[in-house]
Amino acid sequence: MAGAAQTAVVTGAGRGLGVALSGALRAEGYAVIEATRTSGLDLAQPETFAAFAESLGGGPVDLLVHNAAIRGDTGGLATLDVAEFEAVMRVNVLGPLLLTRALLANLRAGAGRVVMISSRAGSLAEGRSDEGDYAYKCSKAALNMAGLKLADETGLSVVALHPGWVQSDMGGPEADVPPEVSAAGLVRQMQLAKSGSFWAWDGVEIGW
Ligand SMILES: NC(=O)c1ccc[n+]([C@@H]2O[C@H](COP(=O)([O-])OP(=O)(O)OC[C@H]3O[C@@H](n4cnc5c(N)ncnc54)[C@H](OP(=O)(O)O)[C@@H]3O)[C@@H](O)[C@H]2O)c1
Repeated sequence: MAGAAQTAVVTGAGRGLGVALSGALRAEGYAVIEATRTSGLDLAQPETFAAFAESLGGGPVDLLVHNAAIRGDTGGLATLDVAEFEAVMRVNVLGPLLLTRALLANLRAGAGRVVMISSRAGSLAEGRSDEGDYAYKCSKAALNMAGLKLADETGLSVVALHPGWVQSDMGGPEADVPPEVSAAGLVRQMQLAKSGSFWAWDGVEIGW
């Protein structure tokens, strides 16, 4: 997919799936810029985005992977907490949206591909269940719409991808997909998926 000159930005690249995604993209020839809280990019703090954009010095971004996310309380209605719900929406939806805006000139200078690491849990068609998890599920549904709107308004190529149940801090030890296996599948889907579509890591299309 990529020549040596292609640049990818991966959020949440310091642990979990983000580490594996960065590795898989490097293996494809990308120069990967790891956007992490320790390097100054905090998705809960949009005021950090301008400095991050500046650090790119106007250079092209061919691929922006919105991987970072938080889960929040997985209980139901009874334990739903206002501040926590807002924090999840801020990191999982508003952060990616505003970071895309901050990097718009860089994306337009490059191939301009945006990847939302979403979740089947956020699919209105396939993600319903009687478990709680309101904040996370709502955030991924909203992220999906944010991606579609971005594609429509900016003309960028935006896809939503589900990584499977990944062995990470978020996925937990029972999860069945090693991060490297998920990342390899996700990078394959990044090559194949048309803008405005939603795919799982294993090549199965997901209904919105
Ligand atoms: N694991 C699964 O089974 C699963 C299933 C479906 C979808 N997903 C999605 O896959 C993606 C990666 O998940 P994961 O399993 O790797 O999760 P994880 O192990 O919990 O890692 C989360 C990542 O997000 C970063 N992050 C959290 N809050 C941040 C903030 N305010 N600013 C910047 N970075 C922040 C973390 O960085 P710090 O180290 O700074 O905290 C970390 O790198 C997420 O979008 C998740 O929703 C995962």
